[in-house]
Order: sequence, then structure tokens, then C-alpha cells
Amino acid sequence: MHLSLRFIIPLMLVLTAFAYAVSPVIDRMTLRWFVRDLDIRSQLIANAISEPLFEQLAAGRKAKIGDFFTRITLDERLFAIGFCAGNDGTSVASKSLPPELRCKDLGRWGAEGNSLLDSKNGPLHVSVQPMVNELYPTGRLVLVHDLGFVTRRSEETKRYLVYGFLGLAAVVSLLTVIIAQLSWRGWLAGMRSLLRGEGLLRDPAATMNLPEFRPIARDIERLVRELETERRARDESQITWSPESLRTILRADLRGEDVIVVSNREPYIHQRHGERIEVQRPASGLVTALEPIMRACSGTWIAHGSGSADRDVVDRHDRVAVPPEQPAYSIRRVWLSAEEEAGYYYGFANEGLWPLCHIAHVRPTFRASDWAHYVAVNRKFARAVISESKTKNPIILVQDYHFALLPKMIREELPQATVITFWHIPWPNPESFAICPWRDEILAGMLGSSILGFHTQFHCNNFVDSVDRFIEARVDRESFTVSLGGQLTAIRRYPISIAWPPDPAMLSKPIEQCHAELRQQYGLPRDHRVCIGVDRLDYTKGILERFRAVERLLEQKPEWIGRFSLLQIAAPSRASIEDYQNHDAQVRALATRINDRFVRGERKLPPPILLKVEHHDAEQVYQCYRGADCCFVSSLHDGMNLVAKEYVAARDDEQGVLVLSQFTGAARELPEALIVNPYDIEQCAAALHLALTMPASEQRDRMRLMRGLVSEFNVYRWAGRMLLDAATMRRRGAVLEKPANLPANG
Ligand code: F6P
Repeated sequence: MHLSLRFIIPLMLVLTAFAYAVSPVIDRMTLRWFVRDLDIRSQLIANAISEPLFEQLAAGRKAKIGDFFTRITLDERLFAIGFCAGNDGTSVASKSLPPELRCKDLGRWGAEGNSLLDSKNGPLHVSVQPMVNELYPTGRLVLVHDLGFVTRRSEETKRYLVYGFLGLAAVVSLLTVIIAQLSWRGWLAGMRSLLRGEGLLRDPAATMNLPEFRPIARDIERLVRELETERRARDESQITWSPESLRTILRADLRGEDVIVVSNREPYIHQRHGERIEVQRPASGLVTALEPIMRACSGTWIAHGSGSADRDVVDRHDRVAVPPEQPAYSIRRVWLSAEEEAGYYYGFANEGLWPLCHIAHVRPTFRASDWAHYVAVNRKFARAVISESKTKNPIILVQDYHFALLPKMIREELPQATVITFWHIPWPNPESFAICPWRDEILAGMLGSSILGFHTQFHCNNFVDSVDRFIEARVDRESFTVSLGGQLTAIRRYPISIAWPPDPAMLSKPIEQCHAELRQQYGLPRDHRVCIGVDRLDYTKGILERFRAVERLLEQKPEWIGRFSLLQIAAPSRASIEDYQNHDAQVRALATRINDRFVRGERKLPPPILLKVEHHDAEQVYQCYRGADCCFVSSLHDGMNLVAKEYVAARDDEQGVLVLSQFTGAARELPEALIVNPYDIEQCAAALHLALTMPASEQRDRMRLMRGLVSEFNVYRWAGRMLLDAATMRRRGAVLEKPANLPANG
């Protein structure tokens, strides 16, 4: 509206001024036309009256001629008329004849012809016509016309002209504004969609209507893509990553789509103890990371219902709302028979893929029967995903090595789904991966994903190398994408993390109290030094190596005997697998041997290894973190290891030392930890000694840096980056699925 007024008013002013400027020219022109008309009219009158006039003159009826002239001048334009006879003839005129036009003065006006006179009666047209007749001597007829009507007409014309131009101005400017507005909107819409990354080509018809846009469309799109990448890097660091920022991404970038998570392990397990049903939280890094995400995003988490009371609490769709104290999302439980669980979970996933990917010197075992169960269970989960999808293009987060085949199975049913697969464990080099008899099927299954994530670039590289080596797929190492059968998969690094800030309940007990209670609980003196280890009882965690490092420390620095203990919390895990049973036995035996060695004969001394093979809940674990002097993570191979990050999060006093295996993903992010090779027992023992003797100021410096890193790269950022990438991919997909309609040479 403003724009219209700003355009219309000046245009009207200009046109009005123009109307005033041209009106004198028009005056002059119309005057000329009127004078010409009057010349002709005078001639006509002269011709018309010549005969009766001469008759009267010949009859000497001068009075009659006067009346005759007066009657003629009743015509509104003919102002006066007179006859000047030559050579003594009679001169006669109407009363209105101006005195300047007496017969004797006619010479001044030219003997004959037409002229203009500015008299006291206004402008006049004077026509002097020669009159010749055989009845009477020659004379001159003087016809005077009033030109006042010309002035009146001119005024009127000027008025109409101004009105006309004003009207014209209004019409022209309105039309111009309407046309300008319409095409401006079209341009704006085009620009906007371009800048949103939708491109001009989204609507080919619109593109055809905007041919002027086409030459710049490609350049702008390229620019937008570059800016987008840059903005992503910049924006990501500017966002304060929290549950709220995740919700915003879902709302703004993914149009409020529901998120479906699929994992083997469920976040809440209902266990029956007689009449009582207890809700258990499993010891799982995956669950630790994803649970806060689901609380933020809502949606559905599909998982194996493994608890003894799981069936008792679900509704008729096998769903249960969680967290029990404040439901925010639902778990959809998938039931597995004992055979399915044995073949798919214990067998193929944990005796095959787990050791294959961890290279922890436990041989992978591959059985055809396990593989068959693995395929069947993946298909069972695919059906659950499809039945839980409310749209044809849901966002599905597939978790871990239990579901290598699931992405492809989902895609076959829901080709428009965005499948983000995250592989929580390492990916081996192609030589190691080649051991797997179903390697091609596994790679093809995973490549059903839109995005495939690993913790480190090293694992991304290993995966791409494996694809390149074993299957017919197009690998683009610049964009890090793999194309298989027309399906494009982006391979990306997303280092997982924990929720930050940590749950206040975990930090509510003061450090001093945690310190005192921890020692009290295990019958240790108040000044006893404690290092903590928290793991599932798994051979990849390097628990045996950790114990050997403690033994070596005590050998080398006997002053620590009876003054230092390693508290090892070991959650029982995969206990029906033989390798785990062997490992469990080895761990217990080694702890006993070391304890016997250093406390033999002096039974009152605290044992160097406190082994607790039992489930601890998160609060208990955080109290141990807060009460210990150091934390030892000695994994032989680990995708990330969230214990390291949890320990850092627990130490809001900025004290405590982290001893961290170089073979964890976490070591790449936390170089301020004491980084060790867990196979190098001497080095680990030295690191333990260093940790126990590190000055408080150095502990603070290191811990502060590590806390900064974990707070910045929290789990919301991990999930947020994947969802943002998924959103970009969906936008690109929407553009690319439409025909571009551009000529080949563009
Ligand atoms: O590391 C892979 C992983 O899925 C972890 O995320 C988790 O800590 C662990 O395995 C859980 O194992 P499970 O579900 O077999 O007990």
C-alpha cells in the first residue's frame, strides 16, 4: 500500500504539471481553428445577406437595414455588423459596432480581410468583406464576431485536460503498481524458495514463467549450498544444544515429524520380583545417549521387550508410556522367542559382529542358523517400524549392529523414509571385515540408510573402504557418499555424547559426602585413594589389563599397597555366551589373585581390587564417580565410551583424573585425559601413579578443558546434527525428485 502511494502521488503530480504546461499550446491551436471557422462563417454571412442588403440599399431604406442588422446580431456570436459604402454611398451599422471600426478608420484594419481586435468588450474577430453589385455602388461589409467564447472554451478545455491527465495518471499508476506487485511477488517467491534451498526448479511450471530467472538460478543455488555448509558449521557452534533446541529443529526443519528409534535394548525394562514389578535402566551407552533425546522429541522407541514383566505392562498395541514417573514417549515392544534371541542377539550380533568389529582378539563365530534368525528378526522389526509409521516419509533412527539389514528392509516398504543409522561400535578395516560370510548382504542392508553415522572418521573411512572393496557401488570420496542401486547414503562422523547439563539429581550429593560414603561403604580408611572403573563385564573393556596395571603399580610403587584400590563396577552382560563366561571367570580370578598377593598375611589391609559384579543404577554410579580420585577407562577397542564423559560430567568440583585408553573414540575428544595404551601395562601403571599424585591445580586445568568439551558437544548436538542433515537431505530430495526442465547446456 505504501509503495503504491509513493508511486501514484508523484506520477499524478507530474502529469498535472504536464497538463498545465501543454495548455497554452492547445489554446493557441484552438484559437487558430476558431479564427479559421469565423473567417469562413463571415464569408458565408456576407454571401447570404448581400442580396437583401443591396435591395434595401437600392431602395434607400436605411432604417430597415439598421433593423435588419440588429436582427442578425441576435446570433450570440455575431457581435456587430456594418456596411461602409464607397463613394458617397450610405453607411449603416448595428448599434453594437465598436467605435474603432467606423468606416473612415477601416484602413487601419486593412482594407479587406480578417483580423483580431482587443476591444473593451473583449477579444473580437473582425472580417471586412468587399461587396459588389450592379444595383448599388461597391461597399465593404464589416462583420464582427465575439471571441469571448474562445476564452471560455479554452478554460473548459484546460479543466478537462487536467482532469483527464489526473484520471490517466491514476489508471496508469494503478496498473503499474499492480503489475509490479505481482511480478515482485513472483520474484520474491522464487528468491525465497531458492534461498530456502528448494530451488527454482521445484515447480517447473513456475520456472517456465520466470525465464529471466533461469540464467542465475544455478549460480544462486550453488552459492546457497556453499553458504548452507558454512552456516551449518557456524550455526552449530552458536546453538546452545538442549532438549529445546532439538524440539525446535524438529518443528522448524522437520515440520514436527515424529521420530521413530529402533534399538535392540529398551530404555526401561520391567522386571518381576514376586508380586512386585521393578523398572530397571540397563547399563548401555546407547540407552544413556538416546533416552534424553527421546524425552525431548517424543515419538516411539521400538525395542526388544526383554523384561520378565514387560508383557504385563503394555497396551494391546504392545506399547507402554515412559519414563514411568513422567511419560514423554512410548516404547513399542517387539517379542522374540528364546530361539530368535539366541540366534539373532547372542549368536550373530554378539558372537559374530561384536568381536568382528572390535578386534579384541576373540574370534568371531558365524553360524548359518544365527544368520537366519538375524534376517528374520530384522524383518520382524521392519514390520514393527512400518506399523508405527504415521506417514509415508517418517524419520527413523536405526541403532547399532543388531540391525544391519533393517535400513534396506524399511526402504523397500517406505521408499521415502529418512533412515538414519548409527553404528555405535567400531568398523574394522576391510581385511578384518572380509571374515564375515554375509559381508555383502550386511553392506547392502546398511546402504538402505539415508545417513550412516559412526563415532570417528577412521571408522567412516573403514566402512567406505569395505564398500569399495566388496560390492558394486559408486563411492564418492569427496562428498563421502555411496550410491547403490540409485539409493544415496551419506557416511558421516557424529561423535556421541551424554546429556549436558547432567541431571541435577546425579550431582545433588556433595563431593565430600560421596568421598566419605564411598570409603565407608567398602570399609576403607578416610584417606584411602580410589580409582573407579565402570563397565559391562565385556572382554572389549580391558578389565583384565586394568587389573594388571594395578598389580604393576603396586609392584613398582609398593607405597600404594593398602593405600589405594581400584573399585571395579561390572554390570553382568551377555552371560549366556561362552566367551563372556570365560571372561567373567578370568576377571574374578585375576582380582582374587592380585588381592591375595598384596594383602596376604596382613588381612586388615584394604584389597587393591574391589570387584562388584552387579547392576548399579545411575545415581549410585555418579556417587562413585564423585567420590573417587580417578577413573580408569582401558577399553581395548571402543566406538566412543561414555563412561569417560560421564566421569567428567560428574566432577563439577573440577577435580579428579581420567586415565583413558587411546583405542576409544573419546580419546580423540579428550586429550587432556592421561591417554594410555591398555596393552602397555608399564605405561598404565605409570599413568595410575601420575593420576594419584597429580596436583589439584593440574587436575583442575585438565578437568576444566574436558568439561568444556563435553558441555559443548553434548548428546543434543549429536542428535541435532543428524536431524539437521536429515532435514537438508529431505529438502534436496524434494527438489531433485522433480524434473529439472533445463536444457542440457544449462
Ligand atoms: O556399544 C554398543 C552397545 O550397544 C552400547 O551402546 C551398549 O553399551 C552395549 O552395546 C549394550 O549391550 P547390550 O545391549 O548387549 O547389553
